Amino acid sequence: MTFHRIRVAPWALAFSMLAFAALTSAANEDRPWLNPGLDPDRRAELAVAQMTREEKQGLVFAYFGTDAPWKKFTTSPEARAGSAGYVPGIARLGIPPQWSTDAGIGVATQGGAKEKRERTALPSGLATAATWDPELAHRAGAMIGAEARNSGFNIMLAGGVNLVREPRNGRNFEYAGEDPLLAGMMVGAQIKGIESNHIISTVKHFALNDQETDRNTLNVNIDRAQARMSDLLAFQIAIEQSNPGSVMCSYNRVWGDHACESAYLLSEVLRRDWGWNGFVMSDWGATHSTAKAAMSGLDQQSGYPFDDQPYFGELLLKSLSSGELKEERLTEMARRIVRTLFAKGVIDYPVKIAPIDFKAHAHVTRAGAEQGAVLLKNDGGLLPLSKRTARIAVVGGYADKGVLAGGGSSLVYPVGGNAVPDLEPKVWPGPIMYYPSSPLRAIQALAPGAKVSFDNGRNHDAAAKLAAGSDVAVVFVTQWTGESVDKSLTLPDDQDALVSAVAAANPRTVVVIEAGGAVFMPWIDKVPAVLHAWYPGTAGGEAIANILLGVVNPSGHLPISLPKDDSQFARAGLEDKDAQGKKTLEVNYAEGATVGYKWFDARGLKPLFAFGHGLSYTRFTYSNLQARLDGQDLVVKFQVRNTGRRDGKDVAQVYVSPMAGAWEAPKRLAAFKKVELQPGATEPVELRVDPRLLAVFTESDKTWRIAPGSYKLMLGHSSADLQLETAIDLPERTVPVRPKP
Ligand code: BGC
Repeated sequence: MTFHRIRVAPWALAFSMLAFAALTSAANEDRPWLNPGLDPDRRAELAVAQMTREEKQGLVFAYFGTDAPWKKFTTSPEARAGSAGYVPGIARLGIPPQWSTDAGIGVATQGGAKEKRERTALPSGLATAATWDPELAHRAGAMIGAEARNSGFNIMLAGGVNLVREPRNGRNFEYAGEDPLLAGMMVGAQIKGIESNHIISTVKHFALNDQETDRNTLNVNIDRAQARMSDLLAFQIAIEQSNPGSVMCSYNRVWGDHACESAYLLSEVLRRDWGWNGFVMSDWGATHSTAKAAMSGLDQQSGYPFDDQPYFGELLLKSLSSGELKEERLTEMARRIVRTLFAKGVIDYPVKIAPIDFKAHAHVTRAGAEQGAVLLKNDGGLLPLSKRTARIAVVGGYADKGVLAGGGSSLVYPVGGNAVPDLEPKVWPGPIMYYPSSPLRAIQALAPGAKVSFDNGRNHDAAAKLAAGSDVAVVFVTQWTGESVDKSLTLPDDQDALVSAVAAANPRTVVVIEAGGAVFMPWIDKVPAVLHAWYPGTAGGEAIANILLGVVNPSGHLPISLPKDDSQFARAGLEDKDAQGKKTLEVNYAEGATVGYKWFDARGLKPLFAFGHGLSYTRFTYSNLQARLDGQDLVVKFQVRNTGRRDGKDVAQVYVSPMAGAWEAPKRLAAFKKVELQPGATEPVELRVDPRLLAVFTESDKTWRIAPGSYKLMLGHSSADLQLETAIDLPERTVPVRPKP
């Protein structure tokens, strides 16, 4: 199969960027839809009215942007090399091609591509979420969006907001944690940043794609109201915050239907209930039909030939001819796509390949890594390391070479290439990538007077010997995770034994974790200090060193709970089996909205480290917690004071709990704020609580209901470290499924 044989109009291949720019730049009297003064709905209406059936169909059928030899598929020469997606434009109407790229940490290159596009990588999604700073997420999004734009992409497939419901999910690193408010706010801010570049961002994977095992076939069952209060709420908040141009429906099935054929998800929830008006694209290979998918609300098939059929290609034309699908629906699909291109500025500000300011962008990614790294433990104030430390042992984790990244479609290739190129797997979801930002070299640069020695950690005795002869030992442990595979939380390659051996040799041992999400720490009582650095991005080595040496005061807080062991999981296995041991391909989220810390609280379980936890080199105290009603809204006020000796950033977290009646869990995160304070400074903070976080959703009448009664508000440093509380009586209130802003 070649691109030509699939079905492409000759004009598409003849399309040239120059011609396009000329066509779109000047106001064109014959083509009023190109007039930026008109509103996007009108422009789309005018443009679509000019289209032939084939032109409309061309817009709803997207190709993979990279050759796929295993499918005998050669992509269009007009696609951006090594990219995720391509849709031919309609030159005569001034509609540009759609060029799409992954994803949430920067401009990715598909693994199979010969030439790798070298770009800046942000820290992982969880690391960005761990900053608890939507402004930083916005800046990060603006930066990767600028790189996408300058790489010639007008669609970025970024905006992963699946809840971390399953700690073993190999894609958790792409997401923003276990709490719908935090995840929705952070991803929404990032999408807004991306789209500030006049390109489209894609919130994904809609919905309940919370594990990778059997991701193409698994059917998710969950109470609908509970889904609205958990996974769907994260999407709803992200979408309200950013109004993204597109939504990507996911691989899995939900309530029996493929997510990309779920009229409930795509038409009822997204459009009718939430009022969202972008276009829905399928995940790559997640379209399974023509009429059913189109009638359920799918607007664009993506990534052909990942699907076994050109459902929105020739088959859509056939379906129109047979009357199975109505022309009006195709017109609506095309209109939604074109409207989005107009609304987001894709047509008025055509993308152009241009140089990238990697130096400036390195500051953005480094700031994210510095503010997202979570200091989990720091007994005796071992960190920051004193500048006078004479001998520092650095052990393991390829810390001499670089920092780890997560695998799969979101992988960004760094400037300078893979620092550890020979690890397996080298193919999907590999390669295992280390960004060439060496923590060892960064530590050496910050401690020029110290003897900083490295041991690769493979021989535990040698590592212990080096540690014993040093003033402090810093052990790097890593766990690579990637798309399409889930993982145990036990560190691989005997690294637990390595930590124990080093800690036994030197009690002043610091562990730095580079991992997709939670890992077990059987050695936790043996080490005084632990820093969770996630996958810290292309400036991660410098960021880690800056925290270890005290150049930066850590301020990351956990966006997930870290379990002690697998007895604390909501589900034992990832593959549900029947009595005969056969896979059922069903997963029952019986825990409903009781996700993450809510699960721990509801079950009375004590995690290893609680959601929201994160230490600083200074200390913060809270005072004057007050709650009041402003109209119908709950407003919480308090003061934060830096009582330590250095400046730092606190993440103040407000949790809420009903005094009577039961929620899915004893408490919910109601509001949060990151505040920066000089030593001795105090800052007043006032936060408004989203009414949905005080309510229970009723599916039958699509209403959020706040029960009248007394509610407790708790202010703390984490979900398990609550410092102050107050109470307030709330009147009965109902809030529509789509609350007014
Ligand atoms: C992933 C998506 C990604 C797409 C395109 C799929 O495998 O699930 O997140 O955007 O590929 O690369």
